Amino acid sequence: NIKNIRIALDGPAAAGKSTAAKKIAEKLGFIYIDTGAMYRTLTYKAIKNHINPKNEQELYDLLMNTVIELKPGKEGQLVFLDGHEVTSEIRQQEVTKNVSDVALHQLVRSEMVKRQQELVQNGGIVMDGRDIGTAVIPDAELKVFMSATAEERARRRFEEHKKQGIESDFQELKAEIEKRDHIDSTRAVSPLVKADDAIELDTTHMSITDVVNKVTEIAAERGATS
Ligand code: CDP
Ligand code: CDP
Repeated sequence: NIKNIRIALDGPAAAGKSTAAKKIAEKLGFIYIDTGAMYRTLTYKAIKNHINPKNEQELYDLLMNTVIELKPGKEGQLVFLDGHEVTSEIRQQEVTKNVSDVALHQLVRSEMVKRQQELVQNGGIVMDGRDIGTAVIPDAELKVFMSATAEERARRRFEEHKKQGIESDFQELKAEIEKRDHIDSTRAVSPLVKADDAIELDTTHMSITDVVNKVTEIAAERGATS
């Protein structure tokens, strides 16, 4: 049944995962979950509590005393930290700069993966992140690995910032994206890597509509045969 399939969307920073995932979920009537928001929320709280991103035990203790909630809103997913909305706060540059260091720890990841698996439940879900197809839902009915050149991904982030009225430097954005990709792809625990059975979508020359149509087409095929 198409209603119950689970779609795992992975890929590097600014490949268009969350934008596509949101629209795919809308089209199929699925739930959308952005797992990056969970790592960002923990990072935001760690910064506020002056916890060093390298301190695994302190981060884990903090996480065990932290409630992270993802709720659907009109403009997409809303994020709550211990009952307070932090949807925009977790996108701050300071958080972006530190999130990959927080996300590389074994203790942090196993707890996050556990929480994410609880959210998957009966399917009818699009989940995006870095390890969804490899660690969170290894038996997902559809896995997509979305990529694009670093140049194009930096350009997309740059345009996004411009639209939001946020001033940014293209070269700096590109360097930040490449640094995060490097940490995410080389960490010991569930690194960013294409799952063997994932479909690779190079979106460098694809519009969001192209991406959404392609994924929903394959989802329909998978739903019909599973
Ligand atoms: O949207 P953007 O590409 O900037 O990043 P994100 O999806 O919000 O993820 C932020 C960071 O969280 C990533 O760079 C990873 O370090 C980490 N992350 C992860 O390790 N595993 C996930 N499933 C999702 C995010
Ligand atoms: O979630 P992720 O970090 O992978 O990327 P995103 O935040 O969904 O997308 C980054 C930006 O690229 C957004 O502003 C999208 O509108 C834009 N985008 C695009 O211009 N063309 C695409 N094919 C995909 C995304």
